[in-house]
Amino acid sequence: METPDYNYKVVRQFTVMTVIWGIVGMLVGVVIAAQLAYPELNLNQYLHFGRLRPLHTNAVIFAFGGSALFATSFYVVQRTCQVRLCSEVLPGFIFWGWNLVIVLAAITLPLGMTSSKEYAELEWPIDILITIVWVAYAYVFFGTIAKRKTSHIYVANWFFGGFILTVAILHVINSAAVPVNLFKSYSAYSGAMDAMVQWWYGHNAVGFFLTAGFLGIMYYFVPKQAERPVYSYRLSIVHFWSLVAIYIWAGPHHLHYTALPDWAQSLGMVMSLILLAPSWGGMINGIMTLSGAWHKLRTDPILRFLVVSLSFYGMSTFEGPMMAIKTVNALSHYTDWTIGHVHSGALGWVAMVSIGAIYHLIPIMFGRKEMYSTAMINLHFWLATLGTVLYIAAMWVNGIMQGLMWRAYNEDGTLTYSFVESVAASHDGYVVRLIGGVMFFAGMLLMAYNLYKTAQQAKLEKCELPA
Ligand code: HEM
Ligand code: HEM
Repeated sequence: METPDYNYKVVRQFTVMTVIWGIVGMLVGVVIAAQLAYPELNLNQYLHFGRLRPLHTNAVIFAFGGSALFATSFYVVQRTCQVRLCSEVLPGFIFWGWNLVIVLAAITLPLGMTSSKEYAELEWPIDILITIVWVAYAYVFFGTIAKRKTSHIYVANWFFGGFILTVAILHVINSAAVPVNLFKSYSAYSGAMDAMVQWWYGHNAVGFFLTAGFLGIMYYFVPKQAERPVYSYRLSIVHFWSLVAIYIWAGPHHLHYTALPDWAQSLGMVMSLILLAPSWGGMINGIMTLSGAWHKLRTDPILRFLVVSLSFYGMSTFEGPMMAIKTVNALSHYTDWTIGHVHSGALGWVAMVSIGAIYHLIPIMFGRKEMYSTAMINLHFWLATLGTVLYIAAMWVNGIMQGLMWRAYNEDGTLTYSFVESVAASHDGYVVRLIGGVMFFAGMLLMAYNLYKTAQQAKLEKCELPA
């Protein structure tokens, strides 16, 4: 069969930007981790923790994670549908439009322009730009599926498609606002309703942006890198439908013991517990894909990134349902335990699976057989794994300690510890987290160097870049 003339330019652009934005977002992560350990590093009003924190979350989720999703989904949809992207102009528009959104975020957030909704902080003109870029993305993705040469739609595309559709709905509904001027708007919802809409969005941003899209990556890149078929195709279909059906109900676990009606909190808790089943079904499907190929883990650090990411996915999707139980949440909420959970998902799962997939893509995008240095990928793997373990272990210890200190009472009913005592007791954990973060960040610098050398080799040897 003739190989179709794929559009690799946009895949290459987003592949390179994944590494660049990863470095920027994680550098800001390291800075805010340092600020929590050493408060004197809060230099001025533009660079203090409160303004840099949303810059970190936007940069790592939407710039780093988003670029990884654009790169991989554009690659996978073409390869599995055996056709070129359905538009010539729109991929370029999507690339520049998305990067403009990120640059605008990097300018407005330190200036204090924010809607104050977590993970949806950007003000309304930027929200409109996001919507336009996203509609173009949906058009290109689904348009390519519509003109496919294969009869079947491969499961990775179902996950990418579910992610694109749901994120569109979440963004439009949660960002509904009344503008007062170009830089300020107020949410269209109020009170408990606003909180509910916000966490319906927030939780499903995790479920569809940080999970479904990355499961799309898993279903293509794990079998490819292991050179084995998906363990159970039937399980992957059950996985898709059960995951999308259940995720959407679990948002209220972010609002336990608040003004949200009690029944809604309990519904969120029960749906979160049920969510363990599809999450683990998918994780097991990914890991079992290595059946008969386990020996490859000894020599292939890219496969190690992918498999360890699945282990962290399994861990964080076990921990999440536990934290959704109201009595457990009474201890974990507001503490660093939540931050540990976030980063076992964010570093261990999202970043590791993206890094694995991007290492798979870079040589293909530069017309080479392999990366410049496999030893460097191996070192990156250990820096990332140990960095993640240090980060999350420190946060578990801090989180449980904080929760226990806050609820400790004396016999006369007064609090045993003041809040500031719990902050002082957290210092050592913050230093360990900083060390873990620096290790993870150092791994990203190594990746950038390896990418640069691979591209340079391609240039020296005059390899023809795929169009
Ligand atoms: C070098 C790597 C990283 C470091 C050092 C780091 C550090 C931090 C720090 C210090 C915070 C603030 C915690 C607090 O408020 O107490 C934070 C929050 C957060 N980070 Fe990271 N981070 C890193 C990578 C990532 C990545 C790759 C992602 C996502 C893919 C991510 C997603 C988040 C999210 C979602 C929050 C907000 C958590 C919440 O509100 O509960 N981080 N990070
Ligand atoms: C079955 C799957 C999961 C369930 C049931 C779950 C449940 C939870 C719960 C109960 C919280 C704490 C809410 C609070 O006390 O404020 C939480 C926070 C969070 N989780 Fe998960 N989680 C799951 C998987 C994941 C994964 C895989 C990721 C990342 C890729 C993730 C990212 C987050 C983030 C970012 C937050 C912090 C939100 C915030 O307060 O800003 N979760 N999750």
